[in-house]
Amino acid sequence: MGNYLSLLGQSFPSKSAFLVDDIPDLTGKVIIVTGANTGIGKETAKTLLAHGAKVYVAARSQEKAEVAIKDLKDSTGGEALFLKLDLGDLKSVKAAAEEYISKETKLDVLFNSAGVMFPPTDWLTADGYDLQFGTNVLGHFYFTKLLLPTLIATAKSAPDGKARVITTSSSAHMLCGLNFSAFKDSPARKKMSASALYGQSKTATFELARRYGSEGIVSIPLNPGNIKTDLARHMPSFQRSILNLFLYDVEHGALTQLYAGTAPEAVGLNGKYLVPWARVGPTRNDARDPKTGVALWEWLEEQVKDI
Ligand SMILES: NC(=O)c1ccc[n+]([C@@H]2O[C@H](COP(=O)([O-])OP(=O)(O)OC[C@H]3O[C@@H](n4cnc5c(N)ncnc54)[C@H](OP(=O)(O)O)[C@@H]3O)[C@@H](O)[C@H]2O)c1
Repeated sequence: MGNYLSLLGQSFPSKSAFLVDDIPDLTGKVIIVTGANTGIGKETAKTLLAHGAKVYVAARSQEKAEVAIKDLKDSTGGEALFLKLDLGDLKSVKAAAEEYISKETKLDVLFNSAGVMFPPTDWLTADGYDLQFGTNVLGHFYFTKLLLPTLIATAKSAPDGKARVITTSSSAHMLCGLNFSAFKDSPARKKMSASALYGQSKTATFELARRYGSEGIVSIPLNPGNIKTDLARHMPSFQRSILNLFLYDVEHGALTQLYAGTAPEAVGLNGKYLVPWARVGPTRNDARDPKTGVALWEWLEEQVKDI
């Protein structure tokens, strides 16, 4: 019951105390935004560019990314850079991290913003994982793991001693916990609905915060709010048009993650969970359980050890 009430509360947030005008000058910061070719990721990239950051648009489609980069240039004057990244293919994730490391020696903020919601349940990643779990959790885990040495080195030389990993979760995680036997294709997975599989793929994870907080990593998962984007592309159009009546604009959608990734005071929020707009909020109790965090981390490590 508590989880349902919390979800309802997060669906109709009160006015934000944080505004994009509060973002400091980001000149000299190097930032990756996954899924920045559209939606919340693109809006995030736009605001970061407008504040002087060097921004990588990490996207699976070069064509879509180039259109987005041109739009971003037209609206901000800033030139974002393309990084080819398919989170549903672990070899592509490795290639993306290697390409980034070959070009940059620092990474101030990694926004793990890309995501997929409610695809047909028989869709799997290139490596045979549930598409939602494989893209939203495993792909981002591996990308982050490969970039951790760069993030830690950046933190060591940063004036505030920090580098940030901001992960776009969802209030959907309040309704469905992790089912380890459904991460890969399996009879257990086949019994789950697309929305339950989405819920588990948006789990709020705190293990990165526990393991790397002492090395200067600030890890903040968050719910961006209910936002009108392409995310509902797999839903029937009638349901989508009803849903759209209750959604906020994409500028609101980027606010909470921009706060987590840029506000000077947010470096104190390692291991907290944010809700709209830019506030600390609740998660499922089991998401906070360190035993679950360790079990998930070890399971994920096992999957990527031979890529
Ligand atoms: N909108 C909401 O109400 C809402 C609520 C809670 C949480 N979220 C979360 O917010 C994040 C952003 O979603 P959005 O609303 O902005 O949706 P969106 O407009 O559909 O954007 C999703 C982005 O993720 C990218 N993506 C999907 N699969 C990918 C893959 N395999 N590799 C690389 N990129 C991939 C998409 O690329 P393509 O264009 O190539 O597909 C797109 O750029 C997601 O993590 C979502 O779960 C959204």
